[in-house]
Amino acid sequence: MGKNIANTTHTFLFCDGGSCQKAGSEKVVRAARAYLRNNDLWDTVHTIKTRCNGRCEDAPTCIVNPGEYWYKELTADKIIPIVKSHIDNNLPVEANLLYKKEWDALKSNREIAPFKPKPFELKDDKELGECFITKGFSSDQYLYPLFLYLLENPKGVTLKMAHLKAMPFTEITAVNYAKTYTLELETATDCIPLTIAGVPKEDKELQKSKISSTEYFYQKNVNQTGIRFKNKFGEVIGIINFDSIDNLAWKYCTKIQLQNASQDLISL
Ligand code: FES
Repeated sequence: MGKNIANTTHTFLFCDGGSCQKAGSEKVVRAARAYLRNNDLWDTVHTIKTRCNGRCEDAPTCIVNPGEYWYKELTADKIIPIVKSHIDNNLPVEANLLYKKEWDALKSNREIAPFKPKPFELKDDKELGECFITKGFSSDQYLYPLFLYLLENPKGVTLKMAHLKAMPFTEITAVNYAKTYTLELETATDCIPLTIAGVPKEDKELQKSKISSTEYFYQKNVNQTGIRFKNKFGEVIGIINFDSIDNLAWKYCTKIQLQNASQDLISL
């Protein structure tokens, strides 16, 4: 039988993502769990290992409930007083906190400015000619939402995959992301695979099909906007075109995918 979580008084969510592991998170978890075991607290205090908490610069991190206290730069020595303080007094150890609800800002010693797409730049592109262009994000955390949005808002959107004929996005009937690396665009008769997750370095075939570069462009002379996907070797995987700069899905791209990087594009 599993643990009776109805008896839980406190929960410690230890980050077990890559950065926290590198920074020694396993030693922190082991120390905390050993303390709980030896102090007969195993049945009432719950510990969970999580994936990345989104604060890698403060690794190793952990979140404590109740209270939603975020801790930073943990070590095996620091965690024991923290565990004790929460269990014995329901109080955090302020010196090690990254954040608590009453604060209006984080207390990080290693804050890194978030990466934002650059504004559009005028370039003479080999394939697109003179156009305004910028790079967006190519991780699946951006590309999967992008294709879901296009599925819902396909008006005026065209997809041209390398080696395939251009097709209106209205022909896409479903967007599936159930495979490990591959998103699938389904049509009534076909399935177009797109590799969007991080792939193993040694798998050359997957590396070739993986979207590593996502460029957003505006060809002012033809009032055409679009997205170009390339692999890490600079080969074009596919292009999405929007019928104008006023296209709803293009506006979504500039707002959500490019985080308003193009606000003054219209006046260029
Ligand atoms: S890996 Fe722990 S916060 Fe990112």
